[in-house]
Amino acid sequence: MNAVAASTDTATLTRAEFPILNQEIGGKPLVYLDSAATGQKPSSVIEAIDRFYREDNAPIHRSAYDLAARSTEAFEGARGRIAAYMGATDETTIFTRNATEAINLVAQVWGRENLGPGDVVLSTLMEHHSNIVPWQIVCQQTGAKIDYVEVTEDGLLDQADLDAKLAAGNVKLLTVAHISNVLGTINDPAELSRKAHAAGAKILIDGSQAVPQLAVDFAATGADFYAWTGHKAYGPTGIGVLHGRREILEAMGPWLGGGDMIKVVSFESSTWNDLPWKFEAGTSAVAEAVGLGAAIDFIERIGIENITAHERALTAYALPKISALDGITVVGPPADKRGGVISFTLDGMHPHDIGELLGREGVCVRTGHHCAQPLMRKLGVPATARASFACFNTTEEVDALIAALVKAKEVFGI
Ligand SMILES: Cc1ncc(COP(=O)(O)O)c(C=O)c1O
Repeated sequence: MNAVAASTDTATLTRAEFPILNQEIGGKPLVYLDSAATGQKPSSVIEAIDRFYREDNAPIHRSAYDLAARSTEAFEGARGRIAAYMGATDETTIFTRNATEAINLVAQVWGRENLGPGDVVLSTLMEHHSNIVPWQIVCQQTGAKIDYVEVTEDGLLDQADLDAKLAAGNVKLLTVAHISNVLGTINDPAELSRKAHAAGAKILIDGSQAVPQLAVDFAATGADFYAWTGHKAYGPTGIGVLHGRREILEAMGPWLGGGDMIKVVSFESSTWNDLPWKFEAGTSAVAEAVGLGAAIDFIERIGIENITAHERALTAYALPKISALDGITVVGPPADKRGGVISFTLDGMHPHDIGELLGREGVCVRTGHHCAQPLMRKLGVPATARASFACFNTTEEVDALIAALVKAKEVFGI
């Protein structure tokens, strides 16, 4: 089967499961090409959340009655399925609000406990702000410094620069996106972990764009921390995940204090709960966790390898067509080194105008700096337009994007 045929099959199989797609915008079919910003939700996820509130909702972990046991089972059951899918254990799968909160947790607990003057946190120029700003904050708090690995002209992580910066011997933590949300570049967590560990550094991988697109096995990455976010992975908003190596999580103190994260509380002091609850203070996002469990069930049912192949095929189909348009510059690596993300600029038209004109044709793309201002500066552009794919997108939708771009160029006379 060739890749485009595989792609068509996956879209045919999944499209009807996304009720939101069944609508028109201004008389045109909705073409949703913004899954890198937030994913659409299949019916099974929407129904799991609805069913939880209709049938199982009660406080978790605390009460002795049947309904509470069911609610706890729904929450912890979701954690168990997510952990198994991600090659992690229940104890090393911590629910957070999103990837941003997961990274802040590591920065504020591990970072404050382990960083000091003379230490370096090594991020990269292709990171989302959520993998930069938490490190800037903890560096200000601890006296450590933040530095960034360069990106090559073709949008790859500059391995020579990485090696040189690690060789300096002062890097305490390397923190890198598994897939860049702007360039689409796919980094290799196992290779990065090997390099970080050889240099005596810990490593955090930001898997926000990777979990919806690629098979990820936390144990196989060799990483110390792996953060991701539910709403990009067919799940609801308000839920994210931090995986961490057990011995590191056990050595870390808590972050937020309050209910659920303690064992014993006296007037003077408290003791901490076991993993993963030590890091889950307060009432958890229970329905959201249940929804994320259903999202992982959905990905497993479709097959992550089918989703990967489908998005690869769509990207390979779209890249030459978009690049061939007069005045368009695509940023990032060739199709075989990128996920389902295509960012581009168009001479003579600001990305916001592209976004608005495409929107009138029902085509939803993201425009702006994509929360990656340092990368925009490196690319020498204020913003880009970005099309991104999910399992339900079709080659016809790529054609609709191209047609809308041609029309937008005509409106601007370019
Ligand atoms: C690579 C990357 N990291 C982190 C995030 C932050 O995700 P969230 O806002 O859900 O925490 C995003 C969201 O765009 C992202 O693309």
